[in-house]
Amino acid sequence: MATSVNKVVEVEVGDLFKGFSKLSREERFERLMEMGALEKDDVQFFRSGGIKTPDLAEKFIENVLGYFQLPLGVATNFRVDGRDFVIPMAVEETSIIAAASKTAKWVREVGEISTESVGNLVIGQIQIAKVKSYNAFVEAVLAKRTEWIELANRDVAHGLVARGGGVRDIQVREVPRGEEAGGGSMAVIHVLADPCDAMGANIINQVCEYLKGPVERETGETVTMCILSNLVDTKLTRAKVVIRDVEPELGRKIEEASLFACQDPYRAATNNKGVLNGIDPILIATGNDWRAVEAGIHAYASRDGQYRSITRWKMEGKNLVGVFEAPIVVGTVGGVTKLHPTAQICLKILDVDSAAHLSRICAAVGLVQNLGALKALTTVGIIEGHMKLHIKNLTLGAGALEKEAPLVQKRLEEILLLTKRISLNNAVEVLREIRAAAGVSAQGNL
Ligand code: MEV
Repeated sequence: MATSVNKVVEVEVGDLFKGFSKLSREERFERLMEMGALEKDDVQFFRSGGIKTPDLAEKFIENVLGYFQLPLGVATNFRVDGRDFVIPMAVEETSIIAAASKTAKWVREVGEISTESVGNLVIGQIQIAKVKSYNAFVEAVLAKRTEWIELANRDVAHGLVARGGGVRDIQVREVPRGEEAGGGSMAVIHVLADPCDAMGANIINQVCEYLKGPVERETGETVTMCILSNLVDTKLTRAKVVIRDVEPELGRKIEEASLFACQDPYRAATNNKGVLNGIDPILIATGNDWRAVEAGIHAYASRDGQYRSITRWKMEGKNLVGVFEAPIVVGTVGGVTKLHPTAQICLKILDVDSAAHLSRICAAVGLVQNLGALKALTTVGIIEGHMKLHIKNLTLGAGALEKEAPLVQKRLEEILLLTKRISLNNAVEVLREIRAAAGVSAQGNL
């Protein structure tokens, strides 16, 4: 089937991704241009080292010194909902991109990835810390609900309304103050809004602050604070991976690893870190607020009172089936997403249709990353994949010259195989031995 990552056609999918990791950086640029994921100007931007002046940084933060540059790469082989994607990832950790690409290759060969969004509303909170009468408060708010929604849409969220979004609902929750605070209740209004392709933080905060006056006037209560919630359980993203006819023993092991992460918070934290290895780098590459997504995912992972895995893997007949479900609230318009040239290029590489689509790709990559980690952990162990790739860095770190590097790497691989461990000390020692041996033979030749 002829398909394309972006717009360019007439290239077989397998060919597009084949051998990508073996290409030089220049060849990668060529390949990505062939795919339609990059244009000449984008390549020129990367070749010239990216952003040059701190002017842009001054627009974002205070007391600017410069930029902190993270490596940016692409994960390949992803086929999500029947379409191919090149995944831009900004990340410092060795082997994340390699593991994602390798696992995505496995999935595309023997399975599939599907995704969906459930709900489209973000949440803003208006807190009344010490409500005099909760029932009277609820009654007063609900009596004004429709009017306030209309007011907020007319006076604050009109831009969103023009794009098909806007404030949709106003609800009230009673939250116990707890014994330590002397008991009683606080009242919390939830303002629910569809932010379209924006993340929605600014607009929902503005709406809540705008409603503070009317709430106080109509209810006679005092508003304590207004802020969005990052636990956006009204806008969830799901991803599902199916591996057909999985080797039964491997399937069972991954199922067990998943149960471990579901039942034990100590393991759940590490499991979820592995999922976020796939998600955060995309959020960073596309200029999204990864702290917000992290907070939302961890809160959602604790929704039944215990911190659990946000992924589940089970055998269904002969198939291994994995699911991810959590809020991933991102934007594709506005803020850094719009202003940062690298984020713009990364969004172009991804070629998603909407913010919800970007969330779905993040979920898919997170789930695949998790699968890669669980497969490694339950078979060869994490050291092999992780450290093998790390050997290259250790070799450089030890100061090996280009001509010495292959021998050092080969020797380090042998040590890794034997001892299951490898460190910079090993690399330094190996290099010393190689140089000493070269010195001896040189003298011997004299
Ligand atoms: C390392 O960055 C991530 C893992 O620890 C994830 C996991 O344990 O599932 C390998």
